[in-house]
Amino acid sequence: MDNARRLVNIALIGFMGTGKTTVGRLVAEQLRFGYVDTDELIQTQTDRSINDIFKTEGEAAFRALEQAVVEALALRSGSVIATGGGLPVNPNNLASLKRHALVVSLWSSPEKIWERVRHQGHRPLLHDPDPQAKIRELLAAREPFYKQADVLINTELRSIREVAQQVILQFRLQAAHHR
Ligand code: S3P
Repeated sequence: MDNARRLVNIALIGFMGTGKTTVGRLVAEQLRFGYVDTDELIQTQTDRSINDIFKTEGEAAFRALEQAVVEALALRSGSVIATGGGLPVNPNNLASLKRHALVVSLWSSPEKIWERVRHQGHRPLLHDPDPQAKIRELLAAREPFYKQADVLINTELRSIREVAQQVILQFRLQAAHHR
């Protein structure tokens, strides 16, 4: 199974607010890789915001769009792929990413996540009467999926730069191993 993997991309998975976008952009810049974000791809393709898709069509419709976007990513190489926080819950998505990418999971505590996302309004799942409880609940439910990554990095105790360095180091090591 492992032999069938081509490690030509890096995929960042993890909960909202763990640093996927900032780390992803920095890693891409340093490796001279392209950068893509699954939420941005969905928004461009549908010409709608994530909030709007959730509101008018519901979460299931969003997840279907997410899976279609992930499948299309298999054609890429030399890309850092930042993914939406709920994407790895669908096992097809994780399996698909693993075929062509080193999958790195970024991890933070619910408290740190709340600190990072509390002033942002673009995440429909946090439009909840008790967003902190929602974060704890979703994070606990998703932990087993995030742990299926090739590499796990706690982003709470490290600077963005240190996290990016770790990602690059792991990619170089594991890409050499799979060559
Ligand atoms: C979601 C996370 C968001 C976005 C959507 C759903 C989730 O992405 O895909 O709002 O289920 O956790 P970020 O993790 O980039 O915020």
